[in-house]
Amino acid sequence: MSSKEICPVRKAVFPVAGLGTRFLPATKVMPKEMLPINDRPLIQHVFEEAREAGIEDFIFVTGRQKEMLEEHFDYQPELEKTLESRNKTDMLKKVRDSEMPAGRLFLTRQPRPLGLGHAIWCAAKLVGNEPFAVLLPDVLMKGPEACLKQMTDVYNKTGGNIIAVEEVPDEETYKYGILDTDNPDDEIMKVKNLVEKPEPGTAPSNMSVVGRYILQPEIFKHLSAFETGAGGEIQLTDAMAKLIDGESFHAMRFNGKSYDSGSRLGFIEANIAYGLSDPEIGEGVKELLKQYK
Ligand code: G1P
Repeated sequence: MSSKEICPVRKAVFPVAGLGTRFLPATKVMPKEMLPINDRPLIQHVFEEAREAGIEDFIFVTGRQKEMLEEHFDYQPELEKTLESRNKTDMLKKVRDSEMPAGRLFLTRQPRPLGLGHAIWCAAKLVGNEPFAVLLPDVLMKGPEACLKQMTDVYNKTGGNIIAVEEVPDEETYKYGILDTDNPDDEIMKVKNLVEKPEPGTAPSNMSVVGRYILQPEIFKHLSAFETGAGGEIQLTDAMAKLIDGESFHAMRFNGKSYDSGSRLGFIEANIAYGLSDPEIGEGVKELLKQYK
């Protein structure tokens, strides 16, 4: 495909219908995507990553008790007035920066937890017939450049489908989507196959899919089959595996580190990492950590 024919990625889908059982009782009422890493909720971290990559339309696949997510990105006049009257300019700037541009937030629902593939399928009508990104808010990608930006830069040369991948220890491959490739040492790899949560000892590599995707709309054709896979769920990885034959499909090593903030340990690690690199509190966090050695 020549670069002239590559359709830009303008839309991003954020699956946010999950129950967050790993964080109960914190997530009894509050959506897990509102849990803060440093000074902003998980959903805002991924929103900012998408915005940095040039995404214009933000599609949330939401569910019951998730209204707080749309509220978070709305204009909050009383809060802004109070901050203004108190000359809290820095805070005001942060609050304004978390506002969604008018007319750019789209909501759809996933009524039942049938799997990630099903959640993405729920966004089919809003995505339409164009390429789109998927960002899993549980996974934060920290590096010199936004992960999705690194991916769109690759996409603008290759077109097709792109996933971000990262090495995991062999004994953990059963938790992830795993890549099969003939050129595992390259930064950009050609995808030969993808397997969701392989049985221990059967993984084709130790390169895991890390929750960032650029996909062509043809994926919806495969998701519409509603075939269940690992864990009895409709898996995005299985639908992607079906795309490999017909479409160009690449895996990209992210130039940074991922934080699985959907686990309690990963959440604490992410708070440490983001706290350490915060210009306001970084030194303080470093000092604090010394006490726990
Ligand atoms: C999902 C995907 C899996 C991917 C993982 C990344 O799994 O199905 O392919 O490796 O996210 O975090 P989940 O963590 O929802 O079980």
